[in-house]
Amino acid sequence: MDRTAIITGASGGIGAEVARELARRSWRIAVVGRNKARTEEVARLVEGTPFVCDFDRLDDVRELAETLDTRYDRIDAIVNNAGGIVGKRAVSADGNELTLQRNVLGSVVLTERLVPKLLHSRGRVVHTSSLVSRFGRIALGDVNYEKRRYGAGWWPYASAKLGVILYARSLAARTGLESFPVHPGYVRSGFGAESKSGKLILALTGWMQISPEAGAASIVHAVDTPELGVPNGTYFDGLTPDGPTHIAAGDEKLIKAYWREIAALTGCEAEHYQAT
Ligand SMILES: NC(=O)c1ccc[n+]([C@@H]2O[C@H](COP(=O)([O-])OP(=O)(O)OC[C@H]3O[C@@H](n4cnc5c(N)ncnc54)[C@H](OP(=O)(O)O)[C@@H]3O)[C@@H](O)[C@H]2O)c1
Repeated sequence: MDRTAIITGASGGIGAEVARELARRSWRIAVVGRNKARTEEVARLVEGTPFVCDFDRLDDVRELAETLDTRYDRIDAIVNNAGGIVGKRAVSADGNELTLQRNVLGSVVLTERLVPKLLHSRGRVVHTSSLVSRFGRIALGDVNYEKRRYGAGWWPYASAKLGVILYARSLAARTGLESFPVHPGYVRSGFGAESKSGKLILALTGWMQISPEAGAASIVHAVDTPELGVPNGTYFDGLTPDGPTHIAAGDEKLIKAYWREIAALTGCEAEHYQAT
C-alpha cells in the first residue's frame, strides 16, 4: 500500500525536492503550495495531487485540512515546510504577524485538524525549522512582535523557527505522534525573495549554500526512516540528531505555555489531547 505524505511549501525549493524523492520511494504525495502554476507543475512531476493554499489566511488552511481529511483515508506523514522570512512587519487577515503565521500558525491549523487521522495511520510529522532558531526569543504575550524590535525580519524569523521546535515538541508530548523538527542546512532556494536583506545576504554567501536536493535529504531521512532511534521530539541538524539548539527549546514549561498561546491564536483546543 502506498504511503501518503502531505508536503507544504512543496511548490519549489526544499519542499519540491522532498516531494520528488519521496515519490521516487513510492510515496503518494499531496503537493501543497501557494503559487498555483508551480504547485501544479511539481504535482505533475511527482504524479501527485496539487493543493493550492495561502497560509496568510488561516481559513484557507482550515479548508485545506478538511479537503485532505476527506480525500485521504490515511496520512502517513505531514511535512510542515512552508515558510520563510518577511522583510517588513505585516499582519495577516487573522491579525497575526506574517512570519509567525507562515512558519508556525498555518502548520498548527493544518496538523491539529489532522491529528486523529495521523494517529489512526501511526503517521509522523516533520517540521522544517532552522539553525537560526538559536537566535530566537520567545516572549510570551508578544509572539506577534508588537512590542519588540522587528529589525529586517531576522529576529521574528529566528523566533518563529524556535517556535517550530517548541510546537513540534508540544505535538509529540500531547499526542504521542512522532514529531521531529529538522534544520535542512543552508540551502540555495527561493528563500529570502520577500526580504531585501535576505536577498543580499543570500547573494553574498551563495558559495556556502547546498543544493535543494541535499537540503531535502535530511527531511526525507526524518520522514522515511522507520526507526530513527531517538526520543520523540528530537531536533535534527541535517542528519545529526540533537544538533545544537536554543536552550529554551528544551524548557517543558515554555513548550506548554507557547502551545497555549498559539492554540489561542489559531482557535485550536489547547487541552484537547492532553489526557493521553
Ligand atoms: N533555504 C535555507 O537555507 C533554509 C534553511 C533553514 C530552513 N529553511 C526553511 O525551509 C523551508 C522551505 O524554504 P526554501 O528554502 O525551500 O525556500 P522557498 O524556495 O522560498 O520555498 C518556500 C515554500 O514555502 C511556500 N510558502 C511561503 N509562504 C507561503 C504562504 N503564505 N502560504 C503557503 N505557502 C507559502 C512557498 O510557496 P510558493 O512558492 O508557492 O509561494 C514555497 O513552496 C522554509 O520553512 C524555510 O524557512 C530554509
